[in-house]
Amino acid sequence: MTQDFLTIEDCSGSQLLAMLDLAQTLKTERAKGIERDSLRGKTLAMIFEKPSTRTRVSFEVAMNELGGRAMVLQKTDLQLGRGETVADTAQVLSRYVHALMLRAHNHATLEELAEYASVPVINGLTNLHHPCQIMADLLTVREHCGSIAGKVVAWVGDGNNVCHSWMQAAVALGFTLRIATPEGFEPSLEMPESEHIIFCVNASEAVRDADVVVTDTWVSMGDDDTLSRRMSFLEYQVNGELMAQAKDSAIFMHCLPAHRGEEVSDDVLDGPQSVVFDEAENRLHAQKAVLLWCMGAM
Ligand code: CP
Ligand code: NVA
Repeated sequence: MTQDFLTIEDCSGSQLLAMLDLAQTLKTERAKGIERDSLRGKTLAMIFEKPSTRTRVSFEVAMNELGGRAMVLQKTDLQLGRGETVADTAQVLSRYVHALMLRAHNHATLEELAEYASVPVINGLTNLHHPCQIMADLLTVREHCGSIAGKVVAWVGDGNNVCHSWMQAAVALGFTLRIATPEGFEPSLEMPESEHIIFCVNASEAVRDADVVVTDTWVSMGDDDTLSRRMSFLEYQVNGELMAQAKDSAIFMHCLPAHRGEEVSDDVLDGPQSVVFDEAENRLHAQKAVLLWCMGAM
């Protein structure tokens, strides 16, 4: 059976854990030079409405290493960029390729693509969700902290796409997510209240004795970059002083790209608690598992 992966909620907690186990196995196998070709003959088309380094390259390498291939389609190079509908594009591309990945400004565009595509659709980031990032992040937490269940993750910064996917993961997997955002930048995701999600009044309250500290850019792709926006975030920089309030064993995470001296100081990003490059690497391993799950090859 094939499946879409539009949000973390597309999977049950046990499916998420099975995908993380598979990702870990694939990572270990790759380190030993063991190859798999489960996606031989399969093609992934990736459509980008916004720039990307990690998502684009890790998906392309993942497909290659699983025996398939990937093509990168910038929206402006497609007829989609001059008015062909999402629905028609979905139906046409479904006749050529075996899966689609979309990085879109609006989550509704992704949902429309998925509605009309007859092949699995994967979310490569929208304004509302970044589930592939969170699969890599969960893999990273498991590697560095052991099991994710029972851990305390502190989210400091903008409550948008990456934060939303963390929220869904906290509920699915039963860890605690403490969220500290400036006023006006709270998560917009509608979710039932959960004991696993705690809203904090400031960054210190979120970070105190946390196992994991996570942040993201103050100005996401598509946001207006205004002085007042930046001023709102000044108290939300993850720096040495803030990080010192987490557990001594705490790790620092960031989906990258980082804006050094803004949401994170250099000493934290480059410091011993930072696992950001493991996290970036894990996009590759986690997305192999996502691809195999979506294409019914797990
Ligand atoms: N973290 C992430 O999605 O990075 P890119 O924007 O480079 O794909
Ligand atoms: N929140 C960021 C994530 C980038 C990977 C953005 O949407 O630009």
